[in-house]
Amino acid sequence: MFDFQTEYNRDKSLVDTALAAYYTNADAPYRTLLESMRYSLNAGGKRLRPVLVLAFCRACGGDAAAALPAACAIEMVHTYSLIHDDLPCMDNDELRRGKPTNHVIYGECTATLAGDALQAEAFRTILESGLPVAVRAECARLLAEAAGTSGICGGQQLDMEGEGKPLTREELLEIHSRKTAAMFHAACRMGIACGNGSDTQLAAAETYAHALGLAFQIRDDMLDVISTAEELGKPIGSDAQEGKTTFMSLYGLERCQREVHDLTNQAASAVAGAFSDSAFLQALARSLETRRS
Ligand code: IPE
Ligand code: IPE
Ligand code: MG
Ligand code: MG
Ligand code: MG
Repeated sequence: MFDFQTEYNRDKSLVDTALAAYYTNADAPYRTLLESMRYSLNAGGKRLRPVLVLAFCRACGGDAAAALPAACAIEMVHTYSLIHDDLPCMDNDELRRGKPTNHVIYGECTATLAGDALQAEAFRTILESGLPVAVRAECARLLAEAAGTSGICGGQQLDMEGEGKPLTREELLEIHSRKTAAMFHAACRMGIACGNGSDTQLAAAETYAHALGLAFQIRDDMLDVISTAEELGKPIGSDAQEGKTTFMSLYGLERCQREVHDLTNQAASAVAGAFSDSAFLQALARSLETRRS
């Protein structure tokens, strides 16, 4: 009998265990840098993006264990982006994953370097994996696309330039697509690449990723208003404090809920016909609709 939470937890612990084995060289002269990378990497994230890599690989009939390095790599890039996002020069936040942010513990210089190193090490992790060479190249390309100017960095630039200004829905969608949905897109497509999926499966993954990524960021904007720091593991009210336009400030709670619901339906129906078993992917989308953290 399919139990979503059990399956999610199983994949999450595969990822947690694999990630815990990185950067453990206690003799390195730069061990403080390694310690700060490990601090954020193993601080207890949801591991959503790596779970998506494994799930799409499996949905295509591929070997999820072989995709584990690619899954770890995307979590490294994601963790780097959170370390930098929290810096005083960006969102200036002091709580992340229920713990003090990296710069609060290690200082801004080490936190900056930890982010830089995690990003580079992510590509190394893919390129040194046992995946077929063409799959390694495709995963690296997808991750670079999501991390670079067209993805996180471009989105974060627009997010920062938008502070203190009213933004239109189109402008906000552009920011969310780049800073958040791009990484969902990379995760799902990396899973397809690892599982050698068909063109139809690739197209379904793209639709799913975009809808889920937008829903995820809208829910994140909602939680920044309606949750608590204890439940969320990060401060609430951060967006208002930084003068950001969000879906919440634009539309309020009810409309946000509706949009998240519609996007979740889009994601679920995109994968419904494309895989012989899409139950996990559909349940994952549904679970994010009402997530509390
Ligand atoms: C937070 O991502 C950043 C956003 C894109 C909103 P997550 O909510 O996935 O953070 P962790 O990895 O679980 O800490
Ligand atoms: C950041 O969005 C997305 C990233 C690229 C890291 P937010 O600034 O809303 O993420 P949180 O709320 O701090 O996790
Ligand atoms: Mg931010
Ligand atoms: Mg932030
Ligand atoms: Mg947020």
